[in-house]
Amino acid sequence: MAMTINEIQAEILRLKKEKDICILAHSYQAREIVEIADFAGDSYQLSVEASKVGNKNVIMCGVRFMAETVKILSPDKTVFLSHPEAGCPMAEQMDRALISSVKEQYPSYTVVAYINTTAELKTICDVCVTSSSAVKIVSNIPNKDILFLPDCNLGDYVAKQLPDKNFKLLQGGCPIHAAVNVRDVEKAKARHPDALLLVHPECVPDVVALADYVGSTSGIMQYAENSDHKEFIIGTELSISEHLQYRCPDKNFYGLSHKLMCPNMKINTLVDVLNCVKGTGGEEITLDPETIAQARICIDKMIELG
Ligand code: 13P
Ligand code: SF4
Repeated sequence: MAMTINEIQAEILRLKKEKDICILAHSYQAREIVEIADFAGDSYQLSVEASKVGNKNVIMCGVRFMAETVKILSPDKTVFLSHPEAGCPMAEQMDRALISSVKEQYPSYTVVAYINTTAELKTICDVCVTSSSAVKIVSNIPNKDILFLPDCNLGDYVAKQLPDKNFKLLQGGCPIHAAVNVRDVEKAKARHPDALLLVHPECVPDVVALADYVGSTSGIMQYAENSDHKEFIIGTELSISEHLQYRCPDKNFYGLSHKLMCPNMKINTLVDVLNCVKGTGGEEITLDPETIAQARICIDKMIELG
């Protein structure tokens, strides 16, 4: 028999209490998932939460590298990714062999990895960053020479904030954010001339240059909520415009482009979360102890410097 959203949510809340499960959700998840999560936020906030969780079990509603980060920070917990198909294409773009050979060419550089990387890749990087913490963390690194991977758009944004550093950027990035172009911005601004443009630093530099604010998913939400302005064009995944529209009904939020829909984040539904808490869905994340120990070094460094 069909169930309502409220009934499914109630069943998830009952089962997660009974089974001592903590549910973490990235802000790109649907509203009905964010509502039943113990914590929802950007990648940095999720990592900090993951290191503090008291429950025996954790379900990550997001993409695979986020669930791996939870496992790395809490290896004794049972960690599930709520949908096994939810990867992040950017995280898969570069492998150990490639980065090892680049490191040989730039031996004196500090290797800074966006957290959107696999656990395996993190084992050979020096420090992780997220979009909200990158500028602060890189500015706290004593070395002037920075090898930044995999997102050249975030890397370009960070490099422009820190002109005293010497950046080598690798050519990776988010296919969703990088698809948005200046023409999309012009069209959105023509439709909404009074709106402020808020964008994620995974967008291309030409788009970032036109923004009134650049920040992580949580940064964008906080900026819009605290602003006296009434209209905003949101240059990140479309879920953020939707969450903001519910949170601030007296303001208007416009998605910058229909291209800003991440299929990997969107594949996860409330029913997937229900199946995961029931024990009939999701995927348990397993990593070998050596990978956990080595990958942890650069995540701990991120939390320390952030
Ligand atoms: P945040 O660092 O803003 O959470 O971004 C994660 C992400 O995947 C953006 O595409
Ligand atoms: Fe990965 Fe881009 Fe999706 Fe974020 S929006 S999870 S970076 S593909």
